[in-house]
Amino acid sequence: MIWIWLLSSVVVGLGLLYWLIIIGEGSYFGRGVVRWIYSRGASIYDRVRSNVTIHDEVHLGGPLRVALMAMPYAATLDVGTGTGRVPLLLAQETWFHGAIHGLDLTAAMLAQAQIKAQHAKVTERIQWHEGSGDNLQRWPDQSFGVVTCLEALEYFPRPRRAIAEMWRVLQPEGTLIISTWTPRHARWLPGKAWTAQQLQQLLQSFGCCDCEIRPWQADAYELVIAVKP
Ligand SMILES: C[S@@+](CC[C@H](N)C(=O)[O-])C[C@H]1O[C@@H](n2cnc3c(N)ncnc32)[C@H](O)[C@@H]1O
Repeated sequence: MIWIWLLSSVVVGLGLLYWLIIIGEGSYFGRGVVRWIYSRGASIYDRVRSNVTIHDEVHLGGPLRVALMAMPYAATLDVGTGTGRVPLLLAQETWFHGAIHGLDLTAAMLAQAQIKAQHAKVTERIQWHEGSGDNLQRWPDQSFGVVTCLEALEYFPRPRRAIAEMWRVLQPEGTLIISTWTPRHARWLPGKAWTAQQLQQLLQSFGCCDCEIRPWQADAYELVIAVKP
């Protein structure tokens, strides 16, 4: 009997760890643990994600082109940039001439991004910043034509403040692009993962009246695309 009890405890314990570390990426324990997990995983991050990011040219390039075509000299900011997914995509677009900024909490992720920028020979086009997405004070209001935040908001300690900050640094007619977990997946991170509808409501309370939700990356994510009036 004791063996059954012990075995069940181990299974439950491992399940809990999987949920907290792999699904929640340490976010319930705060910024320090999130940074620690991403520091450990930075060197393999791109390999693990390659089956998804292989479609970026279409699924990410499309919305970015629509957002920036009319303002090819606008500055852009990617919050929670990781290994530089958005900045590197933009830096290789020949029609885009604006300044490109990527911000992330984890220095090791930014180091990977810098290596990739060197290989792609676009180092001088991108500025990397270490910091938290809920504090964008280094930039004045209305600094960017596009602000993106992909697959990162759910790990921020103060997501509402981060969204308010992203909205603040966006210029009028600029576009905010944020990914959210679909409602089916968001159930797994209660109090952390925002659904697209919740995000849309918050943006509407900021005065946004042009906010589109579209499916993104299989059935796991949705993209919220909001234009600032
Ligand atoms: C799943 S990765 C996504 C990276 C990139 N946006 C992409 O789509 O490949 C999440 C990133 O968010 C970053 N992150 C987590 N909390 C953060 C915070 N408070 N501020 C800024 N970045 C944060 C992590 O360091 C990690 O690089």
